[in-house]
Amino acid sequence: MSKYDEIKKELKQTPKVWLVTGVAGFIGSNLLETLLLLNQRVIGLDNFATGHQHNLDEVQSEVSTEQWLNFSFVKGDIRNFEDCQRALTVDNLAVDYILHQAALGSVPRSIADPILTNSTNITGFLNMLTAAKDAKVATFVYAASSSTYGDHPALPKVEDNIGKPLSPYAVTKYVNELYADVFNKTYGLNATGLRYFNVFGKRQDPDGAYAAVIPKWTAAMIENQDLFINGDGETSRDFCFVENAVQANILAATAADKGKNQVFNVALGDRTSLNELYASLATALSSNDVSYTKKAIYREFRAGDVRHSQADITKAKELLGFQPEYRIQQGIDKAMPWYIKFLTNPNN
Ligand SMILES: NC(=O)c1ccc[n+]([C@@H]2O[C@H](COP(=O)([O-])OP(=O)(O)OC[C@H]3O[C@@H](n4cnc5c(N)ncnc54)[C@H](O)[C@@H]3O)[C@@H](O)[C@H]2O)c1
Repeated sequence: MSKYDEIKKELKQTPKVWLVTGVAGFIGSNLLETLLLLNQRVIGLDNFATGHQHNLDEVQSEVSTEQWLNFSFVKGDIRNFEDCQRALTVDNLAVDYILHQAALGSVPRSIADPILTNSTNITGFLNMLTAAKDAKVATFVYAASSSTYGDHPALPKVEDNIGKPLSPYAVTKYVNELYADVFNKTYGLNATGLRYFNVFGKRQDPDGAYAAVIPKWTAAMIENQDLFINGDGETSRDFCFVENAVQANILAATAADKGKNQVFNVALGDRTSLNELYASLATALSSNDVSYTKKAIYREFRAGDVRHSQADITKAKELLGFQPEYRIQQGIDKAMPWYIKFLTNPNN
């Protein structure tokens, strides 16, 4: 039995109380769905900055009525310390684990408005961390980022070898790691960072200027719109299906001592170029009877982007028992029917 299966069995037998911040977003709503299906008690915090009520509605439709009753939603802003405290006192529940996902993602957004990204990702993070420390939660797991590797040229990326950040967003995610480490040393809070590498899957927002590449291209192909590849298409990423990221969160929250107070890469250890990604998406769409009749348009490289990214996931495997269950193509195949349904629904 894998470590993940073992933990899921234990959680079902002895349910815990979880706070998921950013619960109406992409990764947050996927965490919510898995936790409710495991009969956990979940509190969610979100201000709908980039998350959506329809993500929560969809989770409700995926779980039983009884499981949905185990969820309490707090509408609030992590930039407001009282909102963080409020989420930790819902129904006088003692929260065991926090999965902190709330942040403003996107490198270009942070370049356009560094002050807004800073206030959410640093001030908001510090508020949540402080509230977690005061409430004496067992473990605070937070969404870190592969952007922390910055200009360090080595591949694959190993947790201890980081370079200088290349964007305001990367600065904020690195500062999260520094604060988490200091809160462990000064207050004894268990805080574990998960450096996500290009997570994708259902409910990742395809709309807006700051959409991530997989939902943006998938939407363009389904709607037969122009699709742009930044640079020569040989930029590469370690794309990670969201269910692998959910596994990493659950393992990190429940980890034994050797897996606590660490930073872990969360990815596959694979490298896929944008040209390969484009071909994979086109194949997956055509097997769902969607054909893209246009050609991708190549344009200039995007500011702040790193050229190549690939994780070494040895540390998460050894200390957390992390075993990603989906490779990129399996993830794309699983996500595609959802995108087709979502994007062809006239109400969205
Ligand atoms: N998706 C990826 O590939 C990826 C990669 C690296 C790191 N991350 C990190 O993972 C986390 C989740 O990302 P996601 O892709 O699900 O993004 P998302 O935008 O779908 O989710 C973020 C959620 O946080 C909420 N939020 C934002 N500001 C808030 C505030 N001030 N108060 C309360 N809630 C707020 C949003 O409304 C949204 O629901 C983020 O911290 C992001 O930086 C994501």
